[in-house]
Amino acid sequence: MAPPRTSDVLVVGGGVIGCAVAWFLAREGVAVTLLERGEIAGQASGAAAGMLAPLAEADLGTPTGRVFLRWGRHSLERFPGLVEELGESSGVDPEFRPSGLLRVAGDEAAAAVLRERAAALGEGLVWLDREEARLLEPQLSPEVAGALHSPRECHVRSPLLVRAYAQAAARHGAHIEAGAPVMALARERARVVGVETPAGRLTAEHVVLCTGSWTPSLAAGLPELPVAPVRGQIVSLDAPDPPPARILWGGSTYVVPKPDGSVVVGATEEHVGFDRRVTAEGVRSLLAEAARWVPALADASFRSAWAGLRPETPDHLPLVGPVPTVDGLLVAAGHFRNGVLLSPATGEIVRDAVLGKGWAEPAFLPERWMRPSPSAG
Ligand code: GLY
Repeated sequence: MAPPRTSDVLVVGGGVIGCAVAWFLAREGVAVTLLERGEIAGQASGAAAGMLAPLAEADLGTPTGRVFLRWGRHSLERFPGLVEELGESSGVDPEFRPSGLLRVAGDEAAAAVLRERAAALGEGLVWLDREEARLLEPQLSPEVAGALHSPRECHVRSPLLVRAYAQAAARHGAHIEAGAPVMALARERARVVGVETPAGRLTAEHVVLCTGSWTPSLAAGLPELPVAPVRGQIVSLDAPDPPPARILWGGSTYVVPKPDGSVVVGATEEHVGFDRRVTAEGVRSLLAEAARWVPALADASFRSAWAGLRPETPDHLPLVGPVPTVDGLLVAAGHFRNGVLLSPATGEIVRDAVLGKGWAEPAFLPERWMRPSPSAG
């Protein structure tokens, strides 16, 4: 079925953010059309390991890290109710697992850093010495110095979550179309009135760019939206027996146990532009780190490997809100390592902006990157 010529809201991009935005709006009776040029969850959201781990991800040393932490916690609290509602509405089980997470230390220096982190974060984080950690997770290496147990952190199967958002949005009347490229924004003076597609112009009151790393190309000629790709390579292996019950995270590598008997090992962080290749060095480094923390993984059967492009902003906070000086255009992009986690918060913020509730998170507003024009002041 061709997309409607006009909608209340046009969402561009069918990753986790676009599909969440479509669902949060459609659930309120807003007429939404979502256009995805490739497949739903075909880019970073489909590649993600699906961790919901704000306490592990937060950079506590910066003010922006604390903003992230607040919204990460808020989103994490939403997940149990969210996945239940999405599952009922869509028939898709996003494989939400409230597993908990162990941050593993390889030596005393790393242990001291994690203990400090536990003191700063509080809320249920418990330091375990080597024996206690291995009692909880027998597959951990006998070489670890200890681990920080974070019982509240969770994971989902990211592509299934995206599909659940999309199908639930469709159940609420949203038109979701894959294989539907947007060539340009349709503009009338200082207003965006829709998008140009190969089938002609589609119009809407609001256009929301949920286009991840590709946002600057679509927003060419508009105020700066600084989002750039950071490649993450990921490997899937057969889980050892017994499998880890929790997410295990040592150094910059995590091992996430999945219900299908696999573990997902991630992820590299590489500034290589739009190159989505899986490389020998990427896979080698992930496997070496995984086996350092979980020695049995050295003997695990290899399943597959893939890569995605995380959309990074300079301060590692997303851009969520109206694009300054351009009426009718919002952006929800640049979630870097945490699009899956922050999808409920982002959906709520965009929903409220569209419904005119006049509320937003100031630290997410795109205007923080606006440069004064040469004529100003
Ligand atoms: N959220 C984990 C990662 O981006 O690797």
